[in-house]
Amino acid sequence: MNIPFSPPFIDQDTINEVVDTLQSGWITTGPKVKALEAEVVKLTSCPQALCVNSWTSGAMLVLKWFGIGPGDEVIVPAYTYSATALSIIHCGAKPIMVDVREDFTIDPAKIEEAITSRTKVIMPVDIAGLMCDYTAINELVSSQKNKKLFIAETEKQKQLGRILVLSDAAHSVGASFDGKVAGSVTDITIFSFHAVKNITTAEGGVICINLPTPFNNEEEYKLMRLWTLNGQTKDAFTKSQSGGWKYDILFAGLKVNMPDLCAAVGLSQIKKYNNELLKKREAIAIQYHSFFQEFEWAQLPLMNDEKRKSCFHLYPLRIKGISEIQRDNMIDIISKLGVSVNVHFIPMPLLTLFKDMGYHIADYPIALDNYSREISLPIYPQLMNEEVKYVCESIKEAYLQVLNAND
Ligand SMILES: Cc1ncc(COP(=O)(O)O)c(C=O)c1O
Repeated sequence: MNIPFSPPFIDQDTINEVVDTLQSGWITTGPKVKALEAEVVKLTSCPQALCVNSWTSGAMLVLKWFGIGPGDEVIVPAYTYSATALSIIHCGAKPIMVDVREDFTIDPAKIEEAITSRTKVIMPVDIAGLMCDYTAINELVSSQKNKKLFIAETEKQKQLGRILVLSDAAHSVGASFDGKVAGSVTDITIFSFHAVKNITTAEGGVICINLPTPFNNEEEYKLMRLWTLNGQTKDAFTKSQSGGWKYDILFAGLKVNMPDLCAAVGLSQIKKYNNELLKKREAIAIQYHSFFQEFEWAQLPLMNDEKRKSCFHLYPLRIKGISEIQRDNMIDIISKLGVSVNVHFIPMPLLTLFKDMGYHIADYPIALDNYSREISLPIYPQLMNEEVKYVCESIKEAYLQVLNAND
């Protein structure tokens, strides 16, 4: 068997939606993007949703909107994809990395230790689709102590009067925390619609705007939308209407809008997300759980607890008692058996850029332990029962081979 890791979900509805866009004569930002934004609002109950061309550009946009720049600090987990920290570096600010918990999510106790008068934003990451402890994080930013420490330097910072919580929800569309769906739990939530994500637009992302009073979320949507289009007062669609040629540039915005051609792909998926795509992912996670729970050497990922429900973006299995080299050997064997697996993630302090910046992996022992024993298994709606069984047997076979090699 040959089992890919994460092929995109493309069915006839996707093709029809894309063809409809091509035939409409309008392919960049326009009605399909608006429709996708409306679907995101429906799915998440967030007040406003703004599509962009990637998670990364969305994060840079929000950081710039909040006035983040040199001298500012943004707290992130050491255990994430580098884009989380790169978005901060691109704004001239400093990522402050903290360790994670055993369940892969950022440790609120470590966040508390890292907060200084320079902290402007916290970016928790919902790894694999499991949301962070947002009760603790939202309490931290609202505490009198941390509000007093916060130095507001821009109009938006003054309006908020505290540290902004910007969730890296690249993995967590459809996940929930304390009865609320991702998108309506923190100030700002950004999903990724990259090709391997639960919902895709090939490349893309969406910013869920859920700011507290005195913010007017609709006004902030309009302002952020200007940020996606060079700070220009009229988008291409409006300009294309007769007599609509005149425009102004209000500030140095970015150019990170989502085209309708991409939105069409996401639109076809989001409509069947809760009732079809998410259910299939959950069924596969349950199938993996029931196979691996019999083996003492398998550490199953947390999918639910009393507050959280995952959206099963990844199935991050860990193997108890193995070294990083043994894990790598297991992956070689699994690959030879025709199964593509992955590792999420190489902690950032192990990567050259961050090592050169002075981050040390020794400061993040749980991130290192999680990484060194982790193997992400294929999980996507098209995966058939027989294929899941084959993945399970391949993992078991690789474990036995690696273990026997050490006898
Ligand atoms: C945790 C995390 N954050 C951010 C990103 C970046 O997303 P995008 O490729 O849409 O910029 C990814 C992408 O894989 C990710 O896994």
